[in-house]
Amino acid sequence: MIMISENVFSVGVKDWNRRLFDALIPLPKGTSYNSYLVKGSDKNALIDTVNPGFEKELIKNISEITDLRKLNYLIMNHAEPDHAGSIPVIMERSSAVLITTKKGAEMAKIYYKVPDNRIKVVKEGDTINLGDKTLRFIEAPWLHWPETMFSYLVEDKILFTCDFFGSHTAFGIYDEDVEDLISNSQRYFGEIMMPYRAMGKAAIEKLKNYKVNMIAPSHGPIYKNPEIILDQYKKWTAGETREKVIIVYTTMWNSTEKMVETIMKPLIAEGIEVARYNLANADIGDIAKDLVDSRAIILGAPTVVGSLHPLALHGLQLVNTLKPPIKYGVILNSYGWGKGAVVKIIEQLPKSIEPVGAVEINGPPTDDKEITDIGVKLAQKIKQG
Ligand SMILES: Cc1cc2nc3c(=O)[nH]c(=O)nc-3n(C[C@H](O)[C@H](O)[C@H](O)COP(=O)(O)O)c2cc1C
Ligand SMILES: [Fe+2]
Ligand SMILES: [Fe+2]
Repeated sequence: MIMISENVFSVGVKDWNRRLFDALIPLPKGTSYNSYLVKGSDKNALIDTVNPGFEKELIKNISEITDLRKLNYLIMNHAEPDHAGSIPVIMERSSAVLITTKKGAEMAKIYYKVPDNRIKVVKEGDTINLGDKTLRFIEAPWLHWPETMFSYLVEDKILFTCDFFGSHTAFGIYDEDVEDLISNSQRYFGEIMMPYRAMGKAAIEKLKNYKVNMIAPSHGPIYKNPEIILDQYKKWTAGETREKVIIVYTTMWNSTEKMVETIMKPLIAEGIEVARYNLANADIGDIAKDLVDSRAIILGAPTVVGSLHPLALHGLQLVNTLKPPIKYGVILNSYGWGKGAVVKIIEQLPKSIEPVGAVEINGPPTDDKEITDIGVKLAQKIKQG
């Protein structure tokens, strides 16, 4: 438990041992489930809870500050169990009223069996008065589920954003404690927020009306310097890309890998940044991170039993799911006896990606020219913006 501002406490927990999130995303540095207790002169409010399994730790942290039975409000900025999973126990041990959006109320009933008479629905601009402190609610849907909102502590100018501006790391308390914070945040953005860039942009637009001294997300460090993460989020939500290509491929007998080696040369020679991932050993979180600001993608895959290698299908699906702002695509394929995989890959690429070249080679590549030419063309496209 730590005090982050006068009578505002961080009462959440760190999950140092967690290594996988949403059954998909590796967490090399664990994560945290931040929860905040705001103690006003008349009333108090708990903002978000913690992942199931950490209830006892949360309750212990709260009881160091106040008697849980006296909790007045429980604010649910987001209904996902990593933040809302301890709602049942908090509701059971207190007579708090759950504050959430209209959509959040539906979800609280379905997920956490919260009865109607203990839910208060809030909308944009609504406030609750805690005496000398006021909480104001900002609707911010789809960050990361449809029901999400932000809470703003008016007197202290602290913005509680739950998943938005978060990062999966158990390290540090404040932004300045974590040396790899921005790359961690980018990784997190790629995984969680990138599919909802437009909603993120709209939320940031709304924040222009608020003076924010501190951003307190529910994963990772608290930002004492909000502009650090705001500047990054402005770029990422706008889909700003760099002169950069991400190569995502798989190979069984190295033919596809040789094609990857060949196409990398002209790109590197042209000064294009290259992020290369072999799907057999890549960390999906790293791929998500580089999808955030790459302008082009090269997908490489061998043909397997009349289709693509299953790892390549996974890679393609990942691109479709995460919706990166990538503009250009190149496809590399090696097959043994039957053509046609390239067409299948093009069909499955998001329509926002312009195919710049597609190569299908029977067996190991022998002539580099075609691939090199595509690499040169791709470099030009990337440089044009
Ligand atoms: C398990 C397996 C299944 C394959 N299935 C097909 C296939 O259905 N059609 C085809 O044209 N080639 C097939 N091949 C041949 C590969 O596509 C071919 O060897 C290709 O050059 C491999 O590229 P790589 O060296 O990048 O792995 C298969 C190979 C393996 C090992
Ligand atoms: Fe979430
Ligand atoms: Fe979360």
